[in-house]
Amino acid sequence: MNFQRVFFLVIAFAVLLAGSTSIFYGCKNFSGPTETTTTTNTTTTTPVVTQPVTTSSVICFSSQVLPLLQSNCGMSGCHDALSRRDGYDFSTYQTSVSRGVVAGNADRSAIYTVTASTSRERMPPSPYNALTDAQRAILRQWITEGAKNTNCSPTACDTSSVTYSRTIVPILQTYCVGCHSTASPGGGINLSTYVGIKTVATNGKLLGSIARQSGFIAMPPAGSLGTCETNQFRIWIRNGALNN
Ligand code: HEC
Repeated sequence: MNFQRVFFLVIAFAVLLAGSTSIFYGCKNFSGPTETTTTTNTTTTTPVVTQPVTTSSVICFSSQVLPLLQSNCGMSGCHDALSRRDGYDFSTYQTSVSRGVVAGNADRSAIYTVTASTSRERMPPSPYNALTDAQRAILRQWITEGAKNTNCSPTACDTSSVTYSRTIVPILQTYCVGCHSTASPGGGINLSTYVGIKTVATNGKLLGSIARQSGFIAMPPAGSLGTCETNQFRIWIRNGALNN
């Protein structure tokens, strides 16, 4: 155990004592993201990589955890940089680990324990969907591995075999569905069904928003998808936005 890790554990423990045993409050209002959120976070969400890890078995904070926290917890009015309900802010790595995270111990980390469906104050609260078991497993493993600022960018961008089920759905699940589900369709847009996705793919709003074109509301609000993901959407839409 190196000094950095010991230091981090001490800080994390102190944070826990300082009050992270309290749980998040419910968040009922769901107003649209403001201009400020969009522009500010475009730069701040790019994680500062302190401990790059490339092993595939290691959870990547930047691509697997941060987008999950932002789309399921970081809605406007909840835990974004502006609202910071109950002190929780999932806009960057630094703010995400500053409260409710005990590195190495998911069961003592409030940001994990409140996501259990049995939790009295489940987060995200109704009408938002609970995290799926797979999403909770990612969060758990990331904390168990030390809640590090890992960033495992893929070495190559697959643009030759882009399909709805293998490429598009996983990206939407991680980055978008928390705010665009059947139960809580932000802006009236449901990205949890093919019909809902096909609608915005066809009317130009999907690509317009993720490619941050003028005349569209930039999505996700906290910061752009990667160039690779944006290109994969572009290809899928150009090929007819098929349910393949
Ligand atoms: C933190 C919550 C949140 C996340 C995450 C999010 N959205 Fe949105 N989105 C909204 C809200 C709220 C609106 C409605 C904004 C408004 O009307 O002011 C919206 C609007 C949109 C629109 C309409 C844009 C327009 O110009 O009319 C599209 C398309 C969209 N989102 C797609 C996405 C996609 C794709 C993702 C993931 C890559 C995503 N959103 C992630 C909250 C979110």
